[in-house]
Amino acid sequence: MSESIVLEDPLRAAPARQVEKRVFIKSFGCQMNVYDAERMADIAAEEGFREARAVEDADLIVLNTCHIRERASEKIYSELGKLRELKDERRRAGQGTTLVVAGCLAQAEGVEILRRQPAVDVVVGPQSFHRLPELLREARLGPVVAADFPAEGKFVHLPAAAPEAIARRGVSAFVTVQEGCDKFCSFCVVPYTRGAEVSRSVGAVIDEIARLAAGGVREITLLGQNVNAYHGQGEDGRAVGLAGLIRAVSAVPGIARVRYATSHPGDMSDDLIEAHRDVEALAPSMHLPVQSGSDRVLRAMNRRHRAADYLDTVARVRAARPDIAFSSDFIVGYPGETDADFEATLELVRAVGFASAYAFKYSARPGTPAADAPRQIDAATKERRLARLQALIEEQLQAFNRATVGRRFEVLFEKPGRREGQLIGRSPYMQAVFADAPTSLIGVMAEVEIVGVEPHSLRGRVVSPAS
Ligand code: 5AD
Ligand code: SF4
Repeated sequence: MSESIVLEDPLRAAPARQVEKRVFIKSFGCQMNVYDAERMADIAAEEGFREARAVEDADLIVLNTCHIRERASEKIYSELGKLRELKDERRRAGQGTTLVVAGCLAQAEGVEILRRQPAVDVVVGPQSFHRLPELLREARLGPVVAADFPAEGKFVHLPAAAPEAIARRGVSAFVTVQEGCDKFCSFCVVPYTRGAEVSRSVGAVIDEIARLAAGGVREITLLGQNVNAYHGQGEDGRAVGLAGLIRAVSAVPGIARVRYATSHPGDMSDDLIEAHRDVEALAPSMHLPVQSGSDRVLRAMNRRHRAADYLDTVARVRAARPDIAFSSDFIVGYPGETDADFEATLELVRAVGFASAYAFKYSARPGTPAADAPRQIDAATKERRLARLQALIEEQLQAFNRATVGRRFEVLFEKPGRREGQLIGRSPYMQAVFADAPTSLIGVMAEVEIVGVEPHSLRGRVVSPAS
């Protein structure tokens, strides 16, 4: 076997030559992709890969991709173009590189990715990445595509994170508890890229969180495309909803704060609302996408709720937890959206008062019903509506931040800040908070008084380490 062939194949190279193999994983898109990327890093670690500091040093490069809007997909193809050049350069230097495209673009476009970028070795969808070791071996013989929805979920096959990997991830961790979506909003690719709704069992989730907590994690964000539709199997075999899961997670020793994302307004059950009243560790913030304030548009989007239902849900949650902060997602320029529809969206934003929100221009996604809908909105109108909505959201965000000055919060410190002697953490509302504090407070919930507002963060003063 020539040396160059050994190096072509990083999986085989290490045992024979003790060459240190390096992996570089880059994630795009949502928090679930961040979580998946961590699990892929765990798989790579088991296969003997260490993390590469820079992409140029990596024998294995994984792009964990997003497909939600057209721009997200195009960004990935341009990134792949650059990686092809890097791969060529490394080959000239006698180094092999395996290039993997994972995530939702992989699922949606499959073999098309190989056609557009032949430098890609492996295309693997979000439900199949536990097969990475075998796919990398198959890729020695030529490019491979794995974009099926296997009957058995991937979670049972994933290796547990090593303690060093947990420590590197810090004090706040994501844990996917539910995947896929059965809602079929007419603009959205998720039901096609992530498949039908599947929930992990309570036992599996609690085991993973107990390991994270033992490794120093204090805050857990439970993730799912439709997380409040969670219905995992409980210890007694019966289905448990998200409220039950939250109660179980908050009882894990070491876990001080629990969040969840993303929810659908139609699945905001009474017991979940009660959990916001009763469970101390459950953070008083909720990401509840509404997409539009117009009933006509909501109907066309197949959202299955009206604007008034959303406002009613917000009121019910606020009655249970008055200090809760809402955030949301909006789409402007959905096919057929009139000026009056858009005004209804602004009206809803004013009525709720959001702590933050994301607004997107509608992007037609191939294969979704809305992509072929008549009366697509022109780019200039979308741009104008986006600017107006974003200005209103920004105004509300600044008002929310200003209102926190003088209040005392529990801040979970995560890491050193930019300045010497400073730490950065998050408020219960997800705001970044800077304060002078010793590094011994990393991983500690401290009581902090907010003393000032910066454009993207708050300044705080530690009153006392709380727990
Ligand atoms: N165009 C624009 N935004 C979209 N989103 C989902 N699909 C599209 C699309 N086709 C937005 C929704 C969703 C968020 C994650 O992305 O607002 O809540
Ligand atoms: Fe997409 Fe969310 Fe609608 Fe599911 S509920 S189809 S993930 S926008």
